[in-house]
Amino acid sequence: MKIIIVVGARPNFMKAAPILDTISRRNASLRNGSEKIQPVLVHTGQHYDAAMSDAFFSDLNLPQPDTFLGVGSGSHAAQTAEIMKRFEEVLLREQPDIVIVVGDVNSTMACALVAAKISYNAEGHRPLIAHVEAGLRSFDRSMPEESNRVVTDHLSDLLFVTEESALKNLEREGIPKERVFFVGNTMIDSLRTFEGKAAQSKILERVGISAKNGNNGSTQPGTPYVLLTLHRPANVDRRETFLEILEGIWDVATSYPTIFPTHPRTQKQIVQHKLESYFTFPERDSRGSGQERQTKAITVVEPQGYLDFVCLMKHARLVITDSGGIQEETTCLGVPCVTVRENTERPVTLTSGTNVLGGTRRDSIRDAIQRQLVRNHKTVIPEMWDGKASTRIIEILTARKDLQKRNVLQASRVDDAATSSRN
Ligand code: UD1
Repeated sequence: MKIIIVVGARPNFMKAAPILDTISRRNASLRNGSEKIQPVLVHTGQHYDAAMSDAFFSDLNLPQPDTFLGVGSGSHAAQTAEIMKRFEEVLLREQPDIVIVVGDVNSTMACALVAAKISYNAEGHRPLIAHVEAGLRSFDRSMPEESNRVVTDHLSDLLFVTEESALKNLEREGIPKERVFFVGNTMIDSLRTFEGKAAQSKILERVGISAKNGNNGSTQPGTPYVLLTLHRPANVDRRETFLEILEGIWDVATSYPTIFPTHPRTQKQIVQHKLESYFTFPERDSRGSGQERQTKAITVVEPQGYLDFVCLMKHARLVITDSGGIQEETTCLGVPCVTVRENTERPVTLTSGTNVLGGTRRDSIRDAIQRQLVRNHKTVIPEMWDGKASTRIIEILTARKDLQKRNVLQASRVDDAATSSRN
């Protein structure tokens, strides 16, 4: 069985890595004669900087991609079209049985669309399309990711779901139940696998947070700090919105050291909007590099690799973010999170986890931060976020393939856990 796994942008890498790892462990454990899975890793190149891509390959022990499409940046249409053109050639050459796409980025939707329309031969054979992290909905069509989610889900043959809300969304949209599997969250598989390694990171010292030695050689912060990430076009592309958000976090940013690993888009917008006075740039201004943070301002650092970022999240007093995945990771780490958005496609992080929506107005953000700083967090790890999502996915895929071989085209065999949690 040949499976193409597509990655393209930063949030894809930690979702795909445990699936590849599960495949290679399964292959290694097979007796002679059993069918191996041949994985083919395709990187579209949507993200290409060392900090946005390469760092994740080494941190997550990802093998080098078998194919790199090198599409780079562009408008949504140009980027999507370029991925489609180049991915079509790969599909025709490799002719995989299954294409796995993860998450909600442009690469996810572009490759699903190509796979849905390809014909390997005159009979019109095409690969099965499997979507990992299916069914999430923000109900906000102004988000490019929402279009990507809806299109990808409606093209997919197998939809792997991370939380209960996604099951309801897919049912409401008329996706047949037989295609949908509640398997858990592969991003949390990565978190659980690499948490220990992340604890050895020296990032706290590097960003100027005083650190002391904890157990097992891990580092603990000597002082509480806030971790901030902002990259959504809706939040940083307009000066007024970006400024409003900065005003909303200013009180906490002047009370706690605030570390801001800054996405390339946001770095550009800080300069373009002339908002530098809110920030210090220790990596740019060599004077401050490596020294204890003194100034009352937000500390801009380069985007961090996976292990360093997990370490920064784990020890933070509070995380403020507009990312999707960070809402889930902070829930699992038990760290309070304020999401600088009006909605979330991951409602389980609000109902079970440590997340609250702060909106994008200065007062609502300030209120959410204050509430989170005094709240006594009792996080409940969401159902199935147990580090075994990738194992369930591979079990379902291999069962499906076996059935296909026997020409049983309808109905897939679902593992017990998936069936029972759906009912
Ligand atoms: C993409 C995803 C978003 C995800 C985010 C994580 C879509 C629609 N959006 O947004 O869901 O949360 O990744 O980062 O797919 N750039 C670089 N170097 C890079 C990559 C990007 O400088 O390696 C800059 C370029 O100026 C580019 C801009 O960032 O134009 C935006 O990159 P793009 O991949 O288009 O979208 P993201 O904002 O990163």
